[in-house]
Amino acid sequence: GRPLRVALLGCGVVGSQVVRLLNEQADDLAARIGAPLELAGVAVRRLGRKRDSEVDPALLTTDAEALVARDDVDIVVEVIGGIEPARSLMLAALEDGKAIVTANKALLAEDGATVHGAAKRHGGDLYFEASVAGAIPLLRPLRESLAGDRVRRVLGIVNGTTNYILDKMDTTGASFTDALEEAQSLGYAEADPTADVEGFDAAAKAAILAGLAFHTRVTAADVHREGITEITATDVASAKAMGYVIKLLAICARSDDGRSVGVRVHPAMIPRTHPLAGVREAYNAVFVEAESAGQLMFYGKGAGGAPTASAVLGDIVAVARNRIAGVHGPQESTYADLAVHPMGET
Ligand code: HSE
Repeated sequence: GRPLRVALLGCGVVGSQVVRLLNEQADDLAARIGAPLELAGVAVRRLGRKRDSEVDPALLTTDAEALVARDDVDIVVEVIGGIEPARSLMLAALEDGKAIVTANKALLAEDGATVHGAAKRHGGDLYFEASVAGAIPLLRPLRESLAGDRVRRVLGIVNGTTNYILDKMDTTGASFTDALEEAQSLGYAEADPTADVEGFDAAAKAAILAGLAFHTRVTAADVHREGITEITATDVASAKAMGYVIKLLAICARSDDGRSVGVRVHPAMIPRTHPLAGVREAYNAVFVEAESAGQLMFYGKGAGGAPTASAVLGDIVAVARNRIAGVHGPQESTYADLAVHPMGET
């Protein structure tokens, strides 16, 4: 078939890995999709910076708007993050009937309704597996595999940076600051690590998870949020002495009558024998409890360039297959209007 052309917005930790995978796996991807994928351009904030991967300099541009507007672009991959200009660029792409693959949890949690609404109105595709828990396939199972079940609770570790920090403090007695610096140098932290350590990143992911799990709209503002900045080396050591480990948990729960939903993010003491206590470094782990399925556990790398790029590539393939089949996706639930309150009843 004719090539499908990809515009990449952002070329940081994740974007540079997307470029590498598109290049290295070009033949395999073309065979799986039935048409080659071609990189149409890469929008960056500044030219002339040293990139992690070999991006053909001829593809680089600082004019993201013009790149998105190009007629020959089929798929826009947004890995800039943040609300603006990401939202305007995505809306412009959807209005043009282009497909979106995004890792932007902040935008989807703050103003998902606008972006989802535009996707629906313009018959566009909007895929965002990479927005929550990096490489772990979690949104598709919630949206598709569990669509016939009733999810009661989604609970787990969804921020790699804070898990890395708490793990280092627990195992090596490292200070909060040293552990954070390490997490940043490994490419786990957000551009502004406040989003990680104050729990904003986990709260955005919890909002996205709760929305899919309970078929309702949840925004970041609905989430009770407490970060890990107040946790000291002494807290970690005393927890350890008592047989506990401190983890930052995201908890999304449905009330028994099914009429309301509570979503919260806060540090919690976990017995060292609990499976979540064994989640080390920047790994994430999420339990899903559903009425018929029972308890499911999702575990894997929740942050970092290559793991997150894996989820982006999966979505690109899904979009490319849709384009070839002449369909759109993913198909979302019709949203129910549930009461959302910050704490939940559990
Ligand atoms: N900063 C995020 C984390 C990256 O540490 O989990 C993945 O979303």
